[in-house]
Amino acid sequence: MKINGTPYRSVWVDEKDGWSVHIFDQTRLPFALDVLQLTTPEQVAHAIKTMQVRGAPLIGAVAAYGLALALRTDSADSALEQQAAMLAATRPTAINLRWAIERMLNHLRPLPPAERVAAAYAEAGLICDEDAAQNEAIGLHGLELLRTLAAQRGKNDKINILTHCNAGWIATVDWGTALAPIYMAHDEGLNVHVWVDETRPRNQGAALTAWELGSHGVPHTVIVDNAGGHLMQHGLVDIVIVGTDRVTRNADVANKIGTYLKALAAQDNNVPFWVALPSTTIDWRVADGVREIPIEERSGVEITHITGRDDSGQINRVQITPDGSKAANPAFDVTPARLVTGLITEKGCCPATPEGLLSLFPEQK
Ligand code: MRU
Repeated sequence: MKINGTPYRSVWVDEKDGWSVHIFDQTRLPFALDVLQLTTPEQVAHAIKTMQVRGAPLIGAVAAYGLALALRTDSADSALEQQAAMLAATRPTAINLRWAIERMLNHLRPLPPAERVAAAYAEAGLICDEDAAQNEAIGLHGLELLRTLAAQRGKNDKINILTHCNAGWIATVDWGTALAPIYMAHDEGLNVHVWVDETRPRNQGAALTAWELGSHGVPHTVIVDNAGGHLMQHGLVDIVIVGTDRVTRNADVANKIGTYLKALAAQDNNVPFWVALPSTTIDWRVADGVREIPIEERSGVEITHITGRDDSGQINRVQITPDGSKAANPAFDVTPARLVTGLITEKGCCPATPEGLLSLFPEQK
């Protein structure tokens, strides 16, 4: 996507500075667009854990490059396995991370150590290219849904879309998942408006989704996480579109904490609830999302404190709870498939059922 007219991806390597890996520091957005240069697998692991990079597809792609960086120091079998395990342990919920590492291992294990560095960079580059292409395809399939809504309403009527967390281009290599159809609809002149859940505790909606949409000129309004149900009751939401960190073969959906409550409110108000995902987010080994998907527990400091820019322009963290109050911070929840209207994938849209998924991915039967 473009920033001030210049096209960017969310991760790239640069041969001019020794094939290091570049990312935007997402903990600084929307106030600063800082590029981080990563040269070691430890730096990559740190960036993923601290959420300088985040979003399911992006952490997979960056971890793949992390393995390439690791092999530059030691490309023997034992180092390959050890560094892969280290990178895979950075975050537990998004399956894309494990998928990318497993793909890299399957590609690299059979090769002689001397060939592994070049092969690792090439494979990580392919993962990036494929993610960008898959998300563009998701955008085109999701655009059809928005065109249908526009046709039902009359061309100039506003289409109100609600989204949670950030599933935009900065959470993927390019385009985004939930936001890709919205960018395309806006670009072709549909009258779209996005309700952006702030997404406590880390505010990915308020900070990242609002920044992305604003940079692209898409009309949007930031709301507190609890406003969605009220807006739906008053007919102000036409469709919910969210991304996901893991979809089971039964089509249960893990996504940022609070997604489940949006799905419940959507069902109560007959608002369609769609989930956009590349196939790299499907965990075919898991059926029951509530019982089987590991949910990341993050530090309580993300609840007790909040970060923002003060009136003097400084980015500061301030405490918002009494000293001594405990905080619990499950970072994701699981929305059962029965609450999901459908899935938007690179292969097309399908109902959120095992049969729906298999109709698009018959090779998984
Ligand atoms: O904790 P985060 O910010 O990595 O969580 C991200 C999300 O929950 C996104 O909705 C999901 O990864 C989809 S990204 C296309």
